[in-house]
Amino acid sequence: RTAQPVIVAIDGPSGTGKSSTSKAVAAQLGLSYLDTGAQYRAITWWMVTNGIDIDDPTAIAAVAGKPEIVSGTDPAQPTITVDGVDVSGPIRTQEVTAKVSAVSAVPEVRARITELQRSLAAAAENGIVVEGRDIGTTVLPDADLKIFLTASAEARAARRSGELKGSDLHSTREALIKRDAADSSRKTSPLAKADDAVEVDTTDLTLPQVIECVVTLVEEKRAGK
Ligand code: DC
Repeated sequence: RTAQPVIVAIDGPSGTGKSSTSKAVAAQLGLSYLDTGAQYRAITWWMVTNGIDIDDPTAIAAVAGKPEIVSGTDPAQPTITVDGVDVSGPIRTQEVTAKVSAVSAVPEVRARITELQRSLAAAAENGIVVEGRDIGTTVLPDADLKIFLTASAEARAARRSGELKGSDLHSTREALIKRDAADSSRKTSPLAKADDAVEVDTTDLTLPQVIECVVTLVEEKRAGK
């Protein structure tokens, strides 16, 4: 094919539809897909499983290079393994979700994971959709297209509690607000909108509408508009 690989960065807080949107856009356009939150969850799962004290950034930093994290970038079947073990289920537990912000705030963890992300993006032949918190600002500042997804706290909590079985709306909302505050206020590479990102408020949009909006933006970029 003659088209240049296209790099799309999709950032935003939890519950804005980042993962569903990114996966669908990548599948529709024949691009690779990378869920960077899953990588931070995977390293957090490894820390928890190995008894590392999550409240001790020095202890986390000392072992940040140990686990081997491998992400499969097919949007039809994204995979994630740690030292060869499939952790796609265990990384979604409430325990990992509650601890991931502390682990991902450690600079040594971010340096390690950022390097993985850049090499996966460089290896994607047709291009890639990378979703996270700091992709447009830090990981891939030269991305062809940067999207920043937002939604009201109510809409985000409602979407998340729909995903998590047995969770109630109030505690989901509290946990989500706490995690976003931690992710936005950390020193190293916080959740932030890049100056050149297109902001899309998804509060009153359906998932198909968000997907269509992003697909159109990518196609316009590719057409050189
Ligand atoms: O998208 P998610 O909820 O699976 O992300 C889990 C956590 O990982 C999020 O609370 C903060 C961290 N994260 C990050 O620090 N940087 C990224 N690019 C992606 C996620």
